[in-house]
Amino acid sequence: MCGIVGYAGNKTACGKPLEVCMQGLKRLEYRGYDSAGVALAAPGMQRVAVRKKSGRLSNLAADIKRIPVPDATVGIGHTRWATNGAPSDINSHPHTSEDGKIAIIHNGIIENAGTLRLDLQAEGYTFLSATDTEVAAKLLGKIANIVIDETGKPDLFEALRRMARMLTGAFTILAVDARQPDIVVGVRHDSPLVVGLGDGENFLGSDVAAFVAYTKEAMEVDQDKAVCISGDSVTVTDFDGNLVNNPKRFTIDWDASASDKGGWDSFMDKEIHEDPSAVRNTLIGRFDEDGEIKLDEVHIDAEAFRQIDKIIVVACGTASYAGMVAKYAIEHWVRIPVEIELAHEFRYRDPILTPRTLVVAISQSGETMDTLMALRHAREQGSRVLAICNTQGSTIPRESDAVLYTHAGPEIAVASTKAFVAQIVAAYLLGLYLAQVKCTLYRDEIHQILDQLKQMPEKIQWVLDHEAESINDAASKMINAKSFLFLGRHVGYPVAMEGALKLKEIAYTFTEGFAAGELKHGPIALVEEGEPVVVIVPSSRGRNVLHNKVISAIEEVKARGAFTIAVAEVGDPDAEKYADIVFWRPECPTLLSPLVDVVPLQLLALDMAELKGYDVDKPRNLAKSVTVE
Ligand code: F6R
Repeated sequence: MCGIVGYAGNKTACGKPLEVCMQGLKRLEYRGYDSAGVALAAPGMQRVAVRKKSGRLSNLAADIKRIPVPDATVGIGHTRWATNGAPSDINSHPHTSEDGKIAIIHNGIIENAGTLRLDLQAEGYTFLSATDTEVAAKLLGKIANIVIDETGKPDLFEALRRMARMLTGAFTILAVDARQPDIVVGVRHDSPLVVGLGDGENFLGSDVAAFVAYTKEAMEVDQDKAVCISGDSVTVTDFDGNLVNNPKRFTIDWDASASDKGGWDSFMDKEIHEDPSAVRNTLIGRFDEDGEIKLDEVHIDAEAFRQIDKIIVVACGTASYAGMVAKYAIEHWVRIPVEIELAHEFRYRDPILTPRTLVVAISQSGETMDTLMALRHAREQGSRVLAICNTQGSTIPRESDAVLYTHAGPEIAVASTKAFVAQIVAAYLLGLYLAQVKCTLYRDEIHQILDQLKQMPEKIQWVLDHEAESINDAASKMINAKSFLFLGRHVGYPVAMEGALKLKEIAYTFTEGFAAGELKHGPIALVEEGEPVVVIVPSSRGRNVLHNKVISAIEEVKARGAFTIAVAEVGDPDAEKYADIVFWRPECPTLLSPLVDVVPLQLLALDMAELKGYDVDKPRNLAKSVTVE
C-alpha cells in the first residue's frame, strides 16, 4: 500500500536525491497518504539525515522548505498507508538503527515483528514507535555491525539479505547507510519493487511512476530478490547472495505527463475523461483489418486455448465488476462457464481447478495481494493464469502464464474509473479470441462486434460532452441524501454495483447495488421517501424483455416515494416518462452498454464528492494498491 522510492547517483552535492525522492513521492502519493518521509546520505555524514511528517506530502515539503536538508548522494523516500501503528510523526518512515547510521523504509507487514521486538528489547534496544518497520531498522543496524566487508566497513547489502531471511510476512525494504553513501539496497518478498535505469544514476520504486520523470528504462525485481543500486551499477541477487543474471528489462510505455493532472481539478476527473482513450488504446493492435483477433503477446498457444472448458475470474472491487460484465459476453460468445470469484475468497474454499481451467486475474495495479495469492493458488493446482493488468513490471503479470495489458495509462486517483472500461475491453478481446479459436462465432460476427467496439470511444465521449451538466445538477439536488440504491439487470447489474462502489468510496454515502430482480426479495424495504434510486435501464430495442421489467422496478420504487434516476438509451420514452431524472447514453449493443452506462455513474460520484468538499483523489482510509491481504 505504501509508496517507496530510492535514488543513487554519481554526482555529489547536487540536491538530486532529494528532488527525485520528493518527485517520486508526489507520483506515488496515491498509494498512501498518512505520512511521508525521506532519508539522505552523503560522504562525511555521521548519521543519515531523516525528515518525516504525518499527513500529506505537502507537510513534509513545507517542513523541508523551512529547515533545508543537507545535500546528498543517495536517498530514499516513503509515503505511508498505516498498517502497523497509527498515523503520526513517530510512526512515519524512515526509521533508523540504534546508532542512526542506517535508515530504512518499508512497504508490507512483518508478521514476526512482535517476537523480534521482544528479542531486541531483551538485548537492551529501545523503541520509539509502534511499527514493525522500526523493529527491522534496529535489527538491520545490529546485523550490519556484525557483517563487515573486506574494507572493514559494514556490508549493508549482505546485512539486508540476512535480515530478509529472518523476516516473515510481506515486505519491500529499502535501506541507506551513512557509511556507504554511494548505494541504496532493497529486498522484496510479496510486495512490489522495480528498478529504473538511468545514465550515471539508478532508481528504485514501488512502481514505475516513482521514476518515470527521469527514465523510461526499467528492470523487474523478482520475488525474494535483493537489489543494490549505485550511480553506475545494479546488482540483483537472491536472499543467499547468488547473482541473478540478466533480470528482465522493459521500456515504460507512457510519459511522465500521463501521471500529471494536466490542468484538471483532480486525477479522477482527468481519468474519467480518459475513458474513451482507455478503450481505444486497449483495442489498438489487437486485431487485423479482416477482424482476426491477434493476441500475439499472450504466449499461450491456440491449441491450449481450444482445450479450455471453464474460466474463473479472480479480482477485487472494481476489477471484479469488470469480470462480472465479461461473464455475460464470454458465456454468450464462447459457450463455456465463467465464474467470478472475489480473489480473497477464492483460495479458502477449495475451488475446482483443472489444467483446462483458465484463471483470469484482473488487476489495475498488478499488485493486489488477494489477487496475487489467488493466482498462485490456481497455478499450484495446475491451471493456467492469464492476467489482465494495467501496470507494466508489476507482480501479477509477472507471475502469470500470460498477460493481456490494458492500455489505460497510469491511474492515479484511488477510485478506479478508466481502468474499469479498459478491463472490460481486454476481457472482451479475450472472449472473442476464444470464440475465434473454438469456432463458436463466425468470422463475420467477430468482425461486427469489433466494429461496434471501435465505435465505443465516441459514444463514451458523447456522454461526457452531453450529460455532464445534468449529472452535476442531479448531484447538487441529492447532496443531502442519506443513502442511494443502484439497480440493474443483466450487464446492468455489475454496472449498478460499480456505481454504488464509486459513490461510497469517494462521497462516503451509504450505497448498495442490487440486481433489480432482487428488489422484491428484500431491498425494497430500504426505499424511503425522497431517497435516490439509480436504475440502469436496458435498451428497449429488439423487444428486450428486460427493459420492461426494469421500468417496472422504477415504478415500484417510485410508488414508495423514491427519487428515481435512470441511465437510459437516448429516446427511451419509458425512462423519460417514469424516472425523475434521466442520464442519456447513445444507442449501442447490450453487451457493450456497460462501457457507456458506467460513465454517468463515475461523474455522479465525482460531483457528489466535490460538492461535499472531499478530496476525490485520496478518499479517507483507502489506498490505491492493496498490497496486504
Ligand atoms: C475501487 C477500486 C478498488 C480496486 C480493487 C482492485 O474504485 O479502485 O475496488 O478496483 O482494490 O485493485 P486492482 O485492480 O489494482 O487489483
